Amino acid sequence: MAANLRFDGRVVIVTGAGGGLGRSHALAFGARGASVVVNDLGASHTGEGASSRAADVVVEEIRAAGGKAVANYDSVLDGDKIVETAMKAFGRVDIVINNAGILKDVSFARMTDQQWDLIFQVHVDGAYKVLKAAWPIFRKQKFGRIINTTSAAGLYGNFGQANYSAAKLALVGLTQTLALEGKKENITCNVIAPMAASRMTETVLPPDMLASLKPEMVTPLVEYLCHEDTTETGSIFEVGAGFVGKLRWERTGGHGFPINQDLFPEHIKEEWSKITDFEDGRTTHPTSTGESMEAIMANFENVANGGARPKVVSDDGKVD
Ligand code: NAI
Repeated sequence: MAANLRFDGRVVIVTGAGGGLGRSHALAFGARGASVVVNDLGASHTGEGASSRAADVVVEEIRAAGGKAVANYDSVLDGDKIVETAMKAFGRVDIVINNAGILKDVSFARMTDQQWDLIFQVHVDGAYKVLKAAWPIFRKQKFGRIINTTSAAGLYGNFGQANYSAAKLALVGLTQTLALEGKKENITCNVIAPMAASRMTETVLPPDMLASLKPEMVTPLVEYLCHEDTTETGSIFEVGAGFVGKLRWERTGGHGFPINQDLFPEHIKEEWSKITDFEDGRTTHPTSTGESMEAIMANFENVANGGARPKVVSDDGKVD
């Protein structure tokens, strides 16, 4: 086994750390030497109410185990206040774990503007607010580690979660851009799609499954990614029940149509099997906008012989 990964002298903010995954992250960092800001609004899993108890209990747990922790009860929407708590108590911030979250599940047909907005506020604006306040500190000290929390619902979609999936995928975009913008200053940013038993999942998953889905099986990846020796950045991981895997985009080899000829939907139909074929050995895995553009740029050279004769569609729908 590798040497212990320690966080002595590091200050970690964990949002939504009063229960579930956040609590597990906070306890683990506290046990490995970090000073922890345990943020939690103490709301219900659908965002109602507020109580200082959730954060206080976790702070006590960390202290009882010999660690250092303070509580913060602000909403992540007041992310600057959470960062202020860290600065006042410990004088620095090194790691931000954006974990706070709520659900407002309802079919898209019945979703209200308020249910849409609230989910975006807590997940997207909340992560933004905390990071916006921590970012200048990270840049100045040339060190920062960020974990955002997405969801399989964001990566793949999920019935009844249009608001939640859209907000969760927004965090993937945020992660990938901050990874690029932070690179020069030794700021890494990764995003996890966890699966764990918590009050958020206890009503939707069967009890025998929940027993195998301990939050403590997600936290070690978070710790590894936040260690000062880890340089991984801009990556998406699926993690739960002891499984850890990395995700990437895959693009088909596709089809390039001549650039000097008109393109009609009938041409798309003709080449559809090529456009959508992931099994023909021509797939690629773009990792940046530059690599994404390569295929499009390469098609600039795709000039059909015989000049710019526009293709036409005859009355019977056939392409000539
Ligand atoms: P949880 O409900 O146990 O924990 C979320 C915590 O965030 C709660 O303690 C809550 O009080 C806090 N919170 C809510 N709104 C807040 C606000 N505005 N400001 C500060 N704190 C706030 O749920 P769980 O499962 O631990 O979720 C943690 C994160 O993981 C969430 O972002 C969730 O969307 C995500 N996630 C969880 C999955 C799972 O299987 N448990 C699956 C996919 C994603």
